[in-house]
Amino acid sequence: AIIVLDYGSQVSRLITRRIRECYVYSELVPASTTLAELQAKDHLDIKGFILSGGPSSVYDEDAPSCDPAILHSGLPVLGICYGMQLMAQQLGGHVELKHGTREYGPATIEVVADAEQDYATYRIFEGLKPSPEQTTHLDRPAQHTPLRLPVWMSHGDSVDRLPEGFKVLATTESNPVAVIAHPKGMIGFQFHPEVTHTPQGKELIKNFLFRVCGCEASWTPEKVIDETVERIRQQVGKERILCALSGGVDSAVAALLVHKAIGDQLTCMFVDTGCMREGEGEQVAETFRNHLHIPLVAIDAEERFLGKLAGVTDPERKRKIIGEEFIRVFEEEAVKLATEQGKISFLAQGTLYPDVIESTSHDTANTAKRIKTHHNVGGLPEEMVFKLVEPLRMLFKDEVREIGLELGLPEEWVWRHPFPGPGLAIRVIGDITKEKLDILRKADKIVIDEIRRAGVYRELGQAFAVLTPIQSVGVMGDGRTYGNLVAVRAVTTGDFMTADWARLSPELLARISNRLVNEVHEINRVVYDITSKPPATIEWE
Ligand code: XMP
Repeated sequence: AIIVLDYGSQVSRLITRRIRECYVYSELVPASTTLAELQAKDHLDIKGFILSGGPSSVYDEDAPSCDPAILHSGLPVLGICYGMQLMAQQLGGHVELKHGTREYGPATIEVVADAEQDYATYRIFEGLKPSPEQTTHLDRPAQHTPLRLPVWMSHGDSVDRLPEGFKVLATTESNPVAVIAHPKGMIGFQFHPEVTHTPQGKELIKNFLFRVCGCEASWTPEKVIDETVERIRQQVGKERILCALSGGVDSAVAALLVHKAIGDQLTCMFVDTGCMREGEGEQVAETFRNHLHIPLVAIDAEERFLGKLAGVTDPERKRKIIGEEFIRVFEEEAVKLATEQGKISFLAQGTLYPDVIESTSHDTANTAKRIKTHHNVGGLPEEMVFKLVEPLRMLFKDEVREIGLELGLPEEWVWRHPFPGPGLAIRVIGDITKEKLDILRKADKIVIDEIRRAGVYRELGQAFAVLTPIQSVGVMGDGRTYGNLVAVRAVTTGDFMTADWARLSPELLARISNRLVNEVHEINRVVYDITSKPPATIEWE
């Protein structure tokens, strides 16, 4: 494994992802993690370290540092930006404090290393291609020209004296120390190889992994599945386990992994809140029961949910009611199941690595937490205290998708847009009735069908219809209509924290609009939402 120490850069987890894309296992750990702590983890066969960038200056009062044992472990270390400055300083070099001046944005590094000998010693630049600008304006043969690479810079301070044994391998116009290296595999990049603005960043990371650290590309989806299955078997033994499916990819893949590990000791549960999309419950049942052959308890709780939601217009109250009611239904059904078929000890959840990283506790992997799902009075019957199984807790979303495909989850499911827990309840603006939900279900299906037909579904982060309480005058045939306004929302996004409205083609928008007003009688006007996030949010409520 390659351990990435997180110094707080917004792109730290991108480093981890880049490494994993090369089929090398990587974990992101807090900067304060010690070598001893890492060595105590049996599942880590550490081949090297990366110190990420971060917002600090090494001269800040509470600047995060690095366990010296890591820097002296003899294992390769790649310091990126702050990570390079920290490494240089801790090993006896010096960092120049710059007030207010920053090198930010695109830059070009020029490799000053005496090519042949240094390439063989440090290996980090092996196989890299000169930038296109260099190949088109060559006045000398390529092998005699120093390699120039476009990179992305973002830093204030810079290293101005090297630690002993280090050498400068590359400079930029404004920075004489852009890349440093020690023959023992210690390397510093002042730029960011992990971002796409550094076109050959991935090649540099690959060189570090395979040429400097000697990693093997063996962390494949099949290997992940095998390891996870083994871990689940050990954790769960002969006990029974329950998994709540949401219709999304995470809970489905978690269930598939558990099922592969322990078969029918797993029972899946799907609660239909009445706020699901057209055909959603049926699809879950069909796929799990008939296609994947996994036992499924499907619960129709529409009346219960809609009863609780009647007359409620405040979005946050809608969310709270649905969240609480869900837990109640889930518990009641779990108690029933346990009474009928025997004690259930475990609950499987689709927690992903980013949630784990965010909760800062990195040390709970593989250990079951005892939780109660019960939040109302009286406490839970003894047999309802679950231990948690989280098969995806070391995986990013893309990795979960890859594993889902590998395990036979239908492609359509694997690539589904995320759908909020409260479902259509937060897409019917104002109070919710079954009639309104039915209108929205029809509208939503048309929007998604047309987007799929146009072949742009996968490019979008999310797309849906919103039913507004606005009514407006229209004319249809010879008659006046007074119908509902439906908004169409489609966004492109990487992480759902920010998003842009999708530039759907006018033809596609026209088809959606035509079908909406022709096929859903209650709708007589369609608008397209052209706000980005921020300032708007993706959902309307
Ligand atoms: P917003 O509307 O905040 O949405 O831009 C960002 C992402 O979160 C989803 N979302 C929710 N998911 N429960 C959920 O499980 C919720 O209450 C909820 N509200 C928003 C939204 O669909 C989008 O993917």
